Amino acid sequence: MSFGRQPIANGFLSASEFADEYFFEMEVAICEACATFQLINQPDPERMFHSNYAFFSSLSKHMQQHFKKWADSVTETFLRPVKDPLVIEIGSNDGIMLRNFKKAKIRHLGIEPSENVAQIALDQGINTVCCFFNEQTASEIIKSHGKADVVLAANVMCHIPNIQNVAQGISKLLKEDGVLMFEDPYLGDMLNKTSYDQIYDEHVFIFSAISVSEIFKPHGLELINVEPQITHGGSMRYTFGRIGRHKVHPSVRNIIQKEKFSKFDQRSTFDSFKINCEKSKSDLTALLQSLTSKGKKIVGYAATSKSSTVMNYCDINSDLIAYISDTTPIKIGKFSPGCHIPIVSHDEFSNSYPDYALLLAWNHATEIFEKERSFYASGGRWISFVPKVEILK
Ligand code: SAH
Ligand code: TMP
Repeated sequence: MSFGRQPIANGFLSASEFADEYFFEMEVAICEACATFQLINQPDPERMFHSNYAFFSSLSKHMQQHFKKWADSVTETFLRPVKDPLVIEIGSNDGIMLRNFKKAKIRHLGIEPSENVAQIALDQGINTVCCFFNEQTASEIIKSHGKADVVLAANVMCHIPNIQNVAQGISKLLKEDGVLMFEDPYLGDMLNKTSYDQIYDEHVFIFSAISVSEIFKPHGLELINVEPQITHGGSMRYTFGRIGRHKVHPSVRNIIQKEKFSKFDQRSTFDSFKINCEKSKSDLTALLQSLTSKGKKIVGYAATSKSSTVMNYCDINSDLIAYISDTTPIKIGKFSPGCHIPIVSHDEFSNSYPDYALLLAWNHATEIFEKERSFYASGGRWISFVPKVEILK
């Protein structure tokens, strides 16, 4: 299945950079050996993660709360019983998770290759090394810091193409009774909601419980718990321990049975997903064209990386969407990847409300609706495309 020509989803650019913009053919497939839904081609990691990375985790208050809660539960369950524990986070970004461990004076280390976000964490005294995690990095960390009680990763495991190498590195890095916990967008949510915008250059995998079990098994790690999360439009938190050293929670057997029943490990499931994506595309473009032809002003709300897939797959340009408002300073004044829609500050939105706002950050809907009551009160309406294209009541 193809989503056509796609740019770097976080590659916001200036007009002088349009001519040299990088594109790749975004095609997906399912691996018959491990049942992992994945991109066939992915741009080189250095094109996506660098000193000008545009995603700053701490911009969302809800996500700050989410990571605090997670850190507290990790501390209670896995760290408190251990003397001088060590927690390591892969893809620690600006320190949104690790600042909680720092505050609790727990030994911690973040592995973060994007220099600009790593620097924010370092400036706050959060221990961070600026590099890509892999088996070699794991060996270096063992030499400098010792083995870890807990390895955490949020919204990053699905970013790393050489996942077998990463799994091997984690297996080396964990103490005998150590655990790996990670969360990523969940395949079940993507299929149920037709949220195909989860697929973009950075998300090389969309995991299920079946697929992660298969990936980590050869490295001596077994899935011991799964916990669904509402974050990022529907995620799953997976906990792994060394085979036979932990009790396996009943949630694991339940979810694997459910996934098998729903045929997540079979190709045919993705044929209906493809049809749903095509319908979503035609419904969205028809709605935007119809409103535009009636003279309505439509803008995009939040220049998320996910929205890059929607905009480029549906070929939505500035004739349909006047601008996209966003709160990230380094995105403002630039243009969206591929479609080149201007990115403006939130003030531009709030100073003169449009008729319609396309909710690109649908995964942050609760937080946004709370903040934007006066847009709705003034007659403005939200357009959503997940789980279906509609003007919200
Ligand atoms: N954990 C944060 C950030 C997710 S964005 C959150 O959930 O909000 C993904 C992050 O992983 C980016 O900051 C990116 O620079 C980093 N990353 C990408 N590849 C990586 C790798 N191989 N090792 C460690 N971090 C990586
Ligand atoms: P994400 O969906 O990948 O987390 O990206 C969030 C983007 O949405 C980020 O660019 C910031 C932007 N945003 C807003 O502009 N306003 C908001 O209220 C929220 C929650 C996010």
